[in-house]
Amino acid sequence: MAFKLAGSGKKEKKSKTHSIVRKLQIISKNAPFQYVEAYKTLRTNINFMSASNNYKKLIITSSIPGEGKSNVAVNLCISLAENGKKVLLIDCDLRKPMLHKYLRITRRTSGLTNILSGEANPADVIIRFSDLNFDVITAGVIPPNPAELLGSARMGSMLDSLASQYDYIIMDTPPASVVTDAAVLSALADGVLFVVSHANATIESAQLAKKNLEAANANIIGAILNGFDLKSTSRDSGYYYSYEYGYYK
Ligand SMILES: Nc1ncnc2c1ncn2[C@@H]1O[C@H](COP(=O)(O)OP(=O)(O)OP(=O)(O)O)[C@@H](O)[C@H]1O
Ligand SMILES: [Mg+2]
Repeated sequence: MAFKLAGSGKKEKKSKTHSIVRKLQIISKNAPFQYVEAYKTLRTNINFMSASNNYKKLIITSSIPGEGKSNVAVNLCISLAENGKKVLLIDCDLRKPMLHKYLRITRRTSGLTNILSGEANPADVIIRFSDLNFDVITAGVIPPNPAELLGSARMGSMLDSLASQYDYIIMDTPPASVVTDAAVLSALADGVLFVVSHANATIESAQLAKKNLEAANANIIGAILNGFDLKSTSRDSGYYYSYEYGYYK
């Protein structure tokens, strides 16, 4: 599935401290029409593919940082939940987790790493967003060994047990040309949705990420071209957070 997702009409801004201001470009009543419609089409395509292939555990990744993975992950969950699906969003970016910021959850909340270290059960850390109608597991404390944790047997059994409770489990991950986390996790997932930023990605970075994923036998089920410029009317619709670009190690 190759899929185009329009730009939300918003540009990143620099904060007073010159860090990049990151925003959740949420699909809402005030978002540009094309932006909202694009997510509906993405949802429909995923529902069609899931009906025939039982795709449930889906990874969102891209080649390089900042291509919109986390935005796509959140908005896809909103869109699927609006469609009556039971959805769990897991922040599997254990290096630079952002979902707690985008969703305004305090960093101190226990999350995935607490489950994977055996300190907590999923039921203890799942956060229910009653207004958006989906559940979230934040990343938790940043660990020294993210790829090992994501590929662990405990991660696999956690996903298997949660899979019986949800229609979709959407996993946000780090960029696949930079670190192995998404590739490692892909062994435990049903499919990978590959985000390609219209503005940031290069053919080389996308090819390298694809190679890394394929080397791990990832099932890449679709590509999402994110952020092409529609010159649409921009109205303020999202939450935003100041965020400094960092480097994946
Ligand atoms: N379709 C879009 N239109 C306009 N801006 C967008 C779009 N998608 C993402 N962005 C912006 O790009 C920035 C990065 O988005 P996001 O955090 O989702 O990227 P990411 O790929 O998850 O980054 P990282 O690799 O660091 O995890 C955010 O400020 C977000 O608002
Ligand atoms: Mg992200």
